[in-house]
Amino acid sequence: MRVAIFTLFPEMFAGPFAHSIVARAAARGLISIEIHNFRDMATDRHRTVDDYPYGGGAGMVLQPGPLFAAVEAAALPEGAPIALLTPQGRTFTQQTAQRLAAEPALALICGHYEGVDERVRQHLATEEISLGDFVLSGGEIAAMAVVDAVARLLPGVIDEESTVEESHQSGMLEYPHYTRPPEFRGWRVPDILLSGNHAAIARWRREQALRRTLERRPDMLDRVSLNAKEQRLLDAWRAESETNVAGGKAEMGEPTDTGSAKVIHRSVDN
Ligand SMILES: C[S@@+](CC[C@H](N)C(=O)[O-])C[C@H]1O[C@@H](n2cnc3c(N)ncnc32)[C@H](O)[C@@H]1O
Repeated sequence: MRVAIFTLFPEMFAGPFAHSIVARAAARGLISIEIHNFRDMATDRHRTVDDYPYGGGAGMVLQPGPLFAAVEAAALPEGAPIALLTPQGRTFTQQTAQRLAAEPALALICGHYEGVDERVRQHLATEEISLGDFVLSGGEIAAMAVVDAVARLLPGVIDEESTVEESHQSGMLEYPHYTRPPEFRGWRVPDILLSGNHAAIARWRREQALRRTLERRPDMLDRVSLNAKEQRLLDAWRAESETNVAGGKAEMGEPTDTGSAKVIHRSVDN
């Protein structure tokens, strides 16, 4: 996959892309990342890329000229997504990462200062991506996050098994992980994980993923397909939660935006 990033701060990418999965994917030729400094496309002797906003107001706005010129000079294949990183875009999700990972090429435009001339959004970008409901100083950190999430989904970059059950990939949050030692400061690893019974472990993990999703992100459960046993289990947990709340018992788990639910442990096999 070819990724072209358009930025005024190319040096910011050196560290993050020089390590771990992205660097390994690049070394193996599975992803090629180009960093284009669109200041190189400025036409005046001061290499100006921004100007005061029409109508007044704080901050500087990136001009369209250098950005259009830089993206056009990169000659991306026809139809390649050109994503403007902006807090006004659609929130980046695992589904966005999956969709982008299926593309042969991707352009990412990093804004800065007060923002980017509206004509870039209207006539150059094919989509707008937000990392979340907060404002960054520039699109660079958002672009790094997008590249990292996309790179690990490219075929051959990491073991496919590692990605299928991950949080958000399967539609649920992932089950808890444990490693050696089996007991740490008196906290034991659940016996089932040491049992060697792979079918039972798989059931336990699925159940834990379900519980965790119900506790932390119940909104996700509206979009996940459950088998009949899992649906019964979920219904029972929800009913118990409602009874406990009505009875004034304390709820379990961290309060979240989406609400929390007390979850009583019950096996999928019950
Ligand atoms: C200070 S922000 C400008 C915010 C702009 N004034 C607004 O209110 O929408 C500068 C640049 O950072 C990037 N940026 C900021 N927050 C972002 C977010 N949540 N997701 C993606 N990019 C973001 C965008 O490229 C943006 O042009």
